[in-house]
Amino acid sequence: MTSSDLFDLSGRIAVVTGAGSGIGRATATLLASAGAAVLCADIDEEPVKETAKIVESGGGTALARRVDVAERAEVTEMIEAASREWGRIDIACNIAGIMHQSMVVDTEEVDLDRVMAVNLKGVFFGCQEAARRMIEQRSGSIVNMVSSAIDAPAPGIVCYAMAKAAVTQLTKTLAVETGKFGVRVNAVAPGFVITGMTSRHFRLDDGSMDADRREAVVSAMAKMAPLRRVGEPDDIAGAVLYLVSDAAGFVTGQTIRVNGGVSMP
Ligand SMILES: NC(=O)c1ccc[n+]([C@@H]2O[C@H](COP(=O)([O-])OP(=O)(O)OC[C@H]3O[C@@H](n4cnc5c(N)ncnc54)[C@H](O)[C@@H]3O)[C@@H](O)[C@H]2O)c1
Repeated sequence: MTSSDLFDLSGRIAVVTGAGSGIGRATATLLASAGAAVLCADIDEEPVKETAKIVESGGGTALARRVDVAERAEVTEMIEAASREWGRIDIACNIAGIMHQSMVVDTEEVDLDRVMAVNLKGVFFGCQEAARRMIEQRSGSIVNMVSSAIDAPAPGIVCYAMAKAAVTQLTKTLAVETGKFGVRVNAVAPGFVITGMTSRHFRLDDGSMDADRREAVVSAMAKMAPLRRVGEPDDIAGAVLYLVSDAAGFVTGQTIRVNGGVSMP
């Protein structure tokens, strides 16, 4: 087998949530460039349509769909839509996520519930629906997006870190349950990557970016990494491509840390 055969996704069907921005968009476009047809899903309709356009303008195949992953029925319908359109589902990337910042003692129940609904239950629903199809098919690969927060506790992100830790365990459990059916389940734990989520650190009230603040945040984050830089969405998409490809055919239940070396558990 050649290296291009190993990473070739021609004829495979992928569903990517959170595809309207950042890591999800980079993943959808990279999987499409490797040959997969991609159903791009996001709660924000216009950005996800834009992702599908980017894929198509690169010669790939994509559909855009508005989906709130916290709504079970919408996730079920998303997976059904991919099956209806293309007949099967080979790859499911559960990437949609939100951040909420508060210290444990200040956290409101409503905020805890929303983060769990999107970052944990949304991924659970995505795993469930995809795994049911993949078990029937006797093949498939699921990748869940977690975070460095599973290893390194940081103040103020408790809801997010708890949800990501739970998804890491979900990933292992599902891998154990589905391995005998030829289904692989893995996770990617990114370090600091500049996206819509992390730009909150330097976004001003009017939505514009504070360039000096951005430089300060990025250089502080870069200093913490042995590789002395922060991540780009493509760094994370590359790890997803590896995990869903035949190159990772013997890999399941793993969490790959793509973080410039910030944590090495
Ligand atoms: N950026 C980082 O530094 C970083 C680090 C570790 C993990 N992550 C994880 O990577 C994933 C992608 O984040 P990102 O950094 O690209 O952020 P982002 O904000 O750029 O993208 C997140 C996307 O998810 C979508 N989304 C939010 N709620 C949704 C819902 N209920 N249903 C469907 N879509 C929804 C958003 O509209 C957005 O397009 C997240 O799971 C995040 O936790 C990011």
